[in-house]
Amino acid sequence: MNISAQSGNTLDQKSDLVILFSTEDAQLPEQITGLFVSADFAGKAKQTLLVYSQEKVSPPRILLVGLGVGDKVNSETFRNAAAVAIKEARKIKAEQVAIGLVGDLVLEEQVIAQAITEGMVLGSYRFLGYKTDLNEDEKFLVSDAVIFCTDTKKTSQGITEGQAVAAGIELARDLINGPGVDITPERFGEEAILMEKRVGIKATVLGVKELKEQGFGGILAVGQASVNEPRFIVMEYGEPAEDVPTVCLVGKGLTFDSGGLNIKPADAMVTMKSDMGGAATVFGAMEAVARMKLTVHLVGIIPSAENMPGPNATRPGDIVKSMSGKTIEILNTDAEGRVILADGIHYAHRYNPAAIINFATLTGAMIIALGHHATGLMSTDQALTDKIKVASEKSGEGVWELPMWQEYHDMVKSDIADLKNLGGKAAGSITAATFLAAFAGDYPFAHFDIAGTGYLDTPIKAYHHKGGTGVGVRLMVELLKDFK
Ligand code: BES
Ligand code: ZN
Ligand code: ZN
Repeated sequence: MNISAQSGNTLDQKSDLVILFSTEDAQLPEQITGLFVSADFAGKAKQTLLVYSQEKVSPPRILLVGLGVGDKVNSETFRNAAAVAIKEARKIKAEQVAIGLVGDLVLEEQVIAQAITEGMVLGSYRFLGYKTDLNEDEKFLVSDAVIFCTDTKKTSQGITEGQAVAAGIELARDLINGPGVDITPERFGEEAILMEKRVGIKATVLGVKELKEQGFGGILAVGQASVNEPRFIVMEYGEPAEDVPTVCLVGKGLTFDSGGLNIKPADAMVTMKSDMGGAATVFGAMEAVARMKLTVHLVGIIPSAENMPGPNATRPGDIVKSMSGKTIEILNTDAEGRVILADGIHYAHRYNPAAIINFATLTGAMIIALGHHATGLMSTDQALTDKIKVASEKSGEGVWELPMWQEYHDMVKSDIADLKNLGGKAAGSITAATFLAAFAGDYPFAHFDIAGTGYLDTPIKAYHHKGGTGVGVRLMVELLKDFK
């Protein structure tokens, strides 16, 4: 979608459709109020009304979209409203839309433009690559959107940033929605190389031979029964410098999680192509940060494997030596994410990072605890936690903190190895996190469990769709914008 900024009045435009965002208390222009019964539209959040201008104003149709009470409006309001609007525009096959705003808001124009852009692009997102029978209606896309504003420079800046963020999220969604037969660890390696060419990051892909030589015991143990061999992927954006902090993002890249020998029941396995959601967040964040040219040295680390049963599979009771040298007693082969992440997190030490941040669809227990509305945050560093909470607030991506007390660290100590990959049923999400923290050394460490938020069977926000969400990309962009 082509999105641009323009000054002037939306109602003088010839576009197919004018989208007018309005707060509850706003006074709509008289030419418009005459076109509908006032009770039909009050500017309430998510309310929409399509009116025909009957030649009273230049555009043929106007879509009124409510924002709710003015002082409660934030960027998330705009993201949702824009997604609602673009879906309506699609329904009536408006190719060009002009966007205007009525009402007093405290938000800056740039922030509004960025949120509208994200909402329109993400609201238009569809995963159609595997459909062979699309008709014209299904293929229809809104091609042009013009945002009317007072400051075209700031608005254009907001649009550019919104497009960068949305591109990262689209990439993450495409990877999550792609089936495990195609989105393999090998394919992840290819994606990183493509990204190197596209946005100028540096990509390194290690195959089984290198993994063996360099002692990636965790990744090899999880991936050893699959014909889709594991990979270890490193993507690097920027360079470290005095005022440029290094942040390592690590993402769980299980391209399919059958559970291994501790095989999952059918119902639990059906969405397990999405067990690479953490890796998708890392890909998406790298894409967005590189496009936005943020001042940060960002290292994306993706341990990737397919967890399968088979004659060569890791057994419950096996002991695995991770890259760090720490030994892991495998009590359940379905708790595999933490085993590959152990190597990924340890690998990050070589960059001497200011923070190691992990994303993973790690535990079903996370969905029991927080459902699909909040991502679980587990961190061993208060300063990092504080920054993340600010970024969460700004990005509209909700996180909720869980405790990381010593007692939880003790729960993953093994009798016969250094650690065990199962802490028991109680506090399952936290013990998975304390297991990971054992590999972070003294580096500030935060882990996001996106098991509930990375993939949705039922969309929650207007800019969601059934499938991958790309959660975490916006949060990381906000965090890294001004990371110190
Ligand atoms: N990939 C799953 C976690 C998961 C479950 C993600 C549902 C998204 C939706 C993970 O590898 C897993 O299987 N975890 C086990 C851990 C258990 C064996 C300790 C779980 O949650 O049951
Ligand atoms: Zn599993
Ligand atoms: Zn898993």
